[in-house]
Amino acid sequence: MDTIGILGAGAMGSGIAQVAAASGHNVVICDNLIIALTKASRNVQATLKTLVDKGKMTDADSYALFSRLKFTDHMSEFRDCSIVIEAIVEDIEQKQIAFRSMEAIVDKSTILASNTSSLSISAMGAPLKHPERILGVHFFNPAPLMRLVEIIPGLQTDPDVVERGKSLIDGWGKTTVVAKDTPGFIVNRVARPYYGEALRIFDEGIADEATIDWAMRELCGFRMGPFELMDFIGNDINYAVTEVVFSNFFFDPRYKPSFTQKRLVEAHYFGRKSGRGFYDYRNGVALPEPTKDEALGREIATRILAMLINEASDALYLRVASREDIELAMTQGVNYPKGLLSWADEIGIPNIVEKLDSLYVEYLEDRYRCSPLLRKMNRDGKRFF
Ligand SMILES: NC(=O)c1ccc[n+]([C@@H]2O[C@H](COP(=O)([O-])OP(=O)(O)OC[C@H]3O[C@@H](n4cnc5c(N)ncnc54)[C@H](O)[C@@H]3O)[C@@H](O)[C@H]2O)c1
Repeated sequence: MDTIGILGAGAMGSGIAQVAAASGHNVVICDNLIIALTKASRNVQATLKTLVDKGKMTDADSYALFSRLKFTDHMSEFRDCSIVIEAIVEDIEQKQIAFRSMEAIVDKSTILASNTSSLSISAMGAPLKHPERILGVHFFNPAPLMRLVEIIPGLQTDPDVVERGKSLIDGWGKTTVVAKDTPGFIVNRVARPYYGEALRIFDEGIADEATIDWAMRELCGFRMGPFELMDFIGNDINYAVTEVVFSNFFFDPRYKPSFTQKRLVEAHYFGRKSGRGFYDYRNGVALPEPTKDEALGREIATRILAMLINEASDALYLRVASREDIELAMTQGVNYPKGLLSWADEIGIPNIVEKLDSLYVEYLEDRYRCSPLLRKMNRDGKRFF
């Protein structure tokens, strides 16, 4: 089996290494910090021990998996790899430098892949002698548990590289979707209104966090409401993604961050990990009760859902991905209860257009503009499926 290279032994790199080794590959994990390698090795061993303790893996399989991992601080060990997946810091210059160095070591057929969640794949390929080998492979955290992987070809990527990368990762039991090299790819773009519109409703004083969370959980079937989810992800991480998407979309008001979340980050109210976020998680503090007013809940849910459907429709309209891949990405990547496009069919496209138009008329903000695709489908009486 092919040998897989991983650059960066952090949370993502070690998780992806574990996934590849579980499929029988030898994996070379390289990091420039010895301490990061030691930590990654310990983390993988601890994860494997848990799997053995839970009876999900035999001792022998766990030993065999771990013995397929090679930890090193020398990039030259990548020389026999058929693909190297980079998972270092989210910085375009550092990634470009790393890829240039790797290109001097690996074979000319080796795929150079990046796990970036926000940077341009085309920009990463630009300094390479063979930019047709660059590919985005966006795993979600934690990589061993999350099934979705977004595959992102750069402008220069050879279609054969896309096919090879996709079928390799499919073979690891993952669900792959192909996304255009645009900010946030599919998931981090289409999911933005879940947070952004909830924050807007909160900022306007229409409802409090607990009520908005209750509405999205109980009336729409989301596993977590937007505020508990932001607290779970970490407001620092969630806010940073929103800011990057907003600036990368040339400051389109649809992705505008909220001051409320910015202030939380500034106060170090990161969420669960810091003991305080939108909610107070410190011992003994009771969580606030929602106002279980069905009419208010429906109003909140319809507004957030209409904005999510609008974003999914626009991603399809601008050919970010196929309708099937947009559905898969949101149901498997972020566990949405239904695909947003089939949800639109269920609610009725005329109802979504009417909701968006009423918001637009109310606020006269570009943020609420209806996707041209939804408007056309409404005019033609069409459905997504
Ligand atoms: N953490 C997430 O939730 C998540 C999800 C999807 C994608 N990503 C992306 O994955 C990448 C890695 O994220 P992470 O959370 O694992 O980061 P991390 O900080 O946990 O790990 C990064 C590792 O890279 C090493 N490193 C940095 N520069 C290096 C270099 N030049 N050569 C070798 N090693 C180097 C560091 O020592 C560190 O061990 C980023 O691009 C991030 O945007 C992260």
